[in-house]
Amino acid sequence: MTDRFIPYGRHQIDDDDVAAVVEALRSDWLTTGPAVEGFEGAFATYVGAQHAVAVANGTAALHLCMLAAGIGPGDEVIVPALTFAASANCVRYVGATVVFADVRDDTLTVDAVQVAALISPRTKAILAVDYAGLPADLDDLRMLCDRHGLLLVEDACHAPGAEYRGRKVGSIADLSTFSFHPVKHVTTAEGGMVTTNDPALASRVRTLRNHGITTDYRQREVAGTWEYDMVALGYNYRLSDIQCALGLSQLAKAPEWLERRRALAARYTRELAALPVRLPCVPDDRTHAWHLYAVRVRARDVAGARRTLYRQLRAAGIGVNVHYRPVYLHSYYRDLGYEPGLCPVSEAAYAGLLSLPMSQGLSEEDVGRVIEQISKACVGSG
Ligand SMILES: Cc1ncc(COP(=O)(O)O)c(C=O)c1O
Repeated sequence: MTDRFIPYGRHQIDDDDVAAVVEALRSDWLTTGPAVEGFEGAFATYVGAQHAVAVANGTAALHLCMLAAGIGPGDEVIVPALTFAASANCVRYVGATVVFADVRDDTLTVDAVQVAALISPRTKAILAVDYAGLPADLDDLRMLCDRHGLLLVEDACHAPGAEYRGRKVGSIADLSTFSFHPVKHVTTAEGGMVTTNDPALASRVRTLRNHGITTDYRQREVAGTWEYDMVALGYNYRLSDIQCALGLSQLAKAPEWLERRRALAARYTRELAALPVRLPCVPDDRTHAWHLYAVRVRARDVAGARRTLYRQLRAAGIGVNVHYRPVYLHSYYRDLGYEPGLCPVSEAAYAGLLSLPMSQGLSEEDVGRVIEQISKACVGSG
């Protein structure tokens, strides 16, 4: 008999989540009802932000940030190369130019020194990514934004619950985005959130997620009017009441689940210390949310050693994965003229990166199996 496959990430749905969804299904509001407001309020509290706007997914959240910030053709946005494609694609959606910055070799978050060198008169925003769940160097980036009049957008899709210098991610940047995809900390199947402390930005995001119309159906019902005004070209990026009911139920467990992820990460860090892999680094001034536990293979032929390790672990039922190929190496960006060699630290990191299974639902036995299999594979290759 083969062992159960352990995926790199997986949602957890409990009976209380099912009950919350069933209740929403039986309610008067399948979409844009009280659960949306409830989830937004609870999420704003969780991340310490004044405003939260629920949207269709994390990519829509990023797109709406670009629109709300008024970014468009002729503008530039600085984005780290080592991230999921959506972090850069949102810049392209609004016709602006992506300027890729390299990451720091230690944290794999964007290198503020590189960012400073890339700022031009056309730069409108810096889009930081909390890679794997580790907050970027937000104070350094904020200083650059203040000096040059730029907006700080934080793609915090990996990092709900993380803290930077005592402040919660989601309350620090001008606009922060989150994702509720099933591999993330809490899920609504598909879903996302924009948080901000700026009421004007919150209001713009709220309008743009609903076609650019200033009121929603429920508000018009309450006001007893059919009239509405469309003030901007928006989208239908709404999140349903059914999904927000699930989100609310999931969010109640987020602190406990985050602790579980931290305990699992601590075990990996302890028990993998002797292997020829580089473990994630967590600076003292921030906490990690451990969306991913990404190690870097050390070897003369890094790419070859990583491929071998990937294959061996997969064959042993361990669902390792790779996050990420530098965005500009994808064909779409190559066709736009970006060349290999642009961000050497991101490229070197990519060659050795391997994400180990990480989710709150993993048992100690699962983690023990992952550690045992990696240890075996590393000894075999050494
Ligand atoms: C860093 C980052 N940004 C944005 C997204 C997009 O989120 P979604 O899948 O909810 O659209 C993801 C999703 O994996 C992500 O990892």
